[in-house]
Amino acid sequence: MSRSLLGLQSLDAAEIRAWLRAAVRAAAGELDGALPGLLIANLFFEDSTRTRLSFSVAAHRLGGRALDLSAAGSSIQKGETAVDTARNIEAMGVSAFVVRSREAGVPHMIDSAVAPPVLNAGDGRHEHPTQALLDIYTLAEAFGRLDGFDLSGVRVAIVGDIANSRVARSDVEGIVALGGEAVCVGPPALAPPALASMGCTVTDDLDAALPEADAVVMLRIQFERGAGSAVTSPENYRAGYAMTAERAERLKEGAIVMHPGPINRGLELDSAVADGPRSVILRQVANGVTVRTGALARCLGVVD
Ligand code: CP
Repeated sequence: MSRSLLGLQSLDAAEIRAWLRAAVRAAAGELDGALPGLLIANLFFEDSTRTRLSFSVAAHRLGGRALDLSAAGSSIQKGETAVDTARNIEAMGVSAFVVRSREAGVPHMIDSAVAPPVLNAGDGRHEHPTQALLDIYTLAEAFGRLDGFDLSGVRVAIVGDIANSRVARSDVEGIVALGGEAVCVGPPALAPPALASMGCTVTDDLDAALPEADAVVMLRIQFERGAGSAVTSPENYRAGYAMTAERAERLKEGAIVMHPGPINRGLELDSAVADGPRSVILRQVANGVTVRTGALARCLGVVD
């Protein structure tokens, strides 16, 4: 059976755990070469480094390869729609689509128009499900929860530009579904109280939230989505919400620092922390390959 992965909001805990179990099998090497000749299409209508390349590495691990399409240099520049683009690439004979878009809902539109499964690689401010799965996998690895992915008792502070973040939305959905606690932290313009409807708590007081957190996910200020208007000055933002070396010292013993990347070093996260002992940022990247290998295998029915 083939299945798409468009977001975590619509999935229950059992289904989220099934995607994570596929990653466990990928980590064990059980899926290496499982799909010889696999051809996936990476349709990236917005820039990416980690997501695009890790899907390509994942396809390679499965025994296949990825076709890469970027908006720049494609017939999107001549006005071709995303759906027409996908239907033409489907006609070339690909097994799965990986889709990133500036606007919310584009992977869903493509999923309705083509037969192969679609993996959402980030749509606007909406969802980034494989990023959330790799974040949860990294949390489970750090706190000994890989067997069952039960996050009860794990408190995750998600800090910064939450309003513009598809990562935060998918992280909250996944963490809460698996029994963990999500705390969204930021100035009200970037962490509005309405976020609480997702099942997280919301606060503007990072210094109060930090000593209680088992993990802190620092988010990039997304200037390209207009977040700059909420940042009166870099100095002002840093005073309230940056993960500095001094703040990292006040984290509880064993607490980890995460960031989905790319990092605005010296704005939301200082290099001393990003490259320091609490950081699992590059572990997130490595787990991204594992999670996406499992996701491709599961979307194509190789694992349940
Ligand atoms: N975390 C993430 O989605 O990074 P890229 O934009 O580089 O893919």
